Amino acid sequence: RLRSVVRGCGSHLPDRVLTNADLARMVDTSDDWIVQRTGIQQRHIAGDHETTSVLGIGAARAALAHAGLTPDDIDLVVCATSTPDLTFPSCASQIQFGLGINQGAAFDVQAVCTGFVYAVSVADKFLTSGSHKRALVIGAETFSRILDWEDRTTCVLFGDGAGAIVLEAQEAEGGNADRGVLTSHLRSDGRHREKLYVDGGPGSTRTTGVLRMEGKEVFRFAVAQVVDVIRDAFKATGTTPDDLDWFVPHQANKRIIDASAEKLGIAPEKVVITVERHGNTSAASIPLALDAAVKDGRIKTGDLVMIEAIGGGFTWGSALIRW
Ligand code: ACO
Repeated sequence: RLRSVVRGCGSHLPDRVLTNADLARMVDTSDDWIVQRTGIQQRHIAGDHETTSVLGIGAARAALAHAGLTPDDIDLVVCATSTPDLTFPSCASQIQFGLGINQGAAFDVQAVCTGFVYAVSVADKFLTSGSHKRALVIGAETFSRILDWEDRTTCVLFGDGAGAIVLEAQEAEGGNADRGVLTSHLRSDGRHREKLYVDGGPGSTRTTGVLRMEGKEVFRFAVAQVVDVIRDAFKATGTTPDDLDWFVPHQANKRIIDASAEKLGIAPEKVVITVERHGNTSAASIPLALDAAVKDGRIKTGDLVMIEAIGGGFTWGSALIRW
């Protein structure tokens, strides 16, 4: 039986940092308000040349180096993004080209902030079917380009960046018997599409549009549904919150993360939090957090890691990975 095992990870952030103090000079807000409501202290903002694919290529290169692999070893590129450079070709195709890969498949997955969980689940299905050997799974976003910079209720929340992991199909045997993506659970409910959306696109305004959100509604839904889909992952694998080594949630807001962990009974010291330095980077937030926790020595081979997210649609999902 095949399993999708993590071979390596990497990330890439734009150079420019925008602090809460910087934002307070742009809109009527304060460091206090932002920190208290969200936990965010700063975020990275892409420059003109730092497109989503450029950030994605940086993260992919770092992940390949960490895995000790070259672009030739990859036959599947899946990029989770809602902010591609162009309507098409896909960001994944642009990243594939940028890495010099011209074999295998490449496509984007669009599930907004849940995109990375969806992408892991999709790549896992390709790899465990035996059709592909090694996947680059990337979350890359430049939400700064779809923000209304005069709307203080949204522009303070988001940032840009990219993260990537390399998944490899391996036989589940010997020391590997227990490793890899153990389960994933994906959900969507379009009845909530108007609570978090972008008000433009080729089929409507023919412009890119900007993000619109009913923050309170999103908050309420997020905690309840995320807890539910995480419980599905525990149930499917016969594990409990005590078995987890690390909980790596989508980094939207520290209050959502804390409330979810508390409801599930996950100890605060097991929760990986990067939202204070990255803000909400949508589909990039989980691989950015995973990379931070791997590189600082927290996540180690054999650790049990739960990832989860919720985003526009609404979409939401979870995946349990033995690192
Ligand atoms: N600075 C200062 N004041 C502000 C700001 C700001 N940036 N934004 C809003 N306010 C004001 C409001 O105008 C309001 O003022 P009023 O009482 O005079 O009308 C007051 O602050 C309270 O606003 P609320 O919207 O009630 O604040 P709330 O406590 O709900 O916090 C927040 C807002 C942070 C957006 C919260 O609702 C939230 O975290 N929601 C989840 C949304 C989220 O994380 N979305 C990310 C995308 S989805 C995802 O990734 C899960």
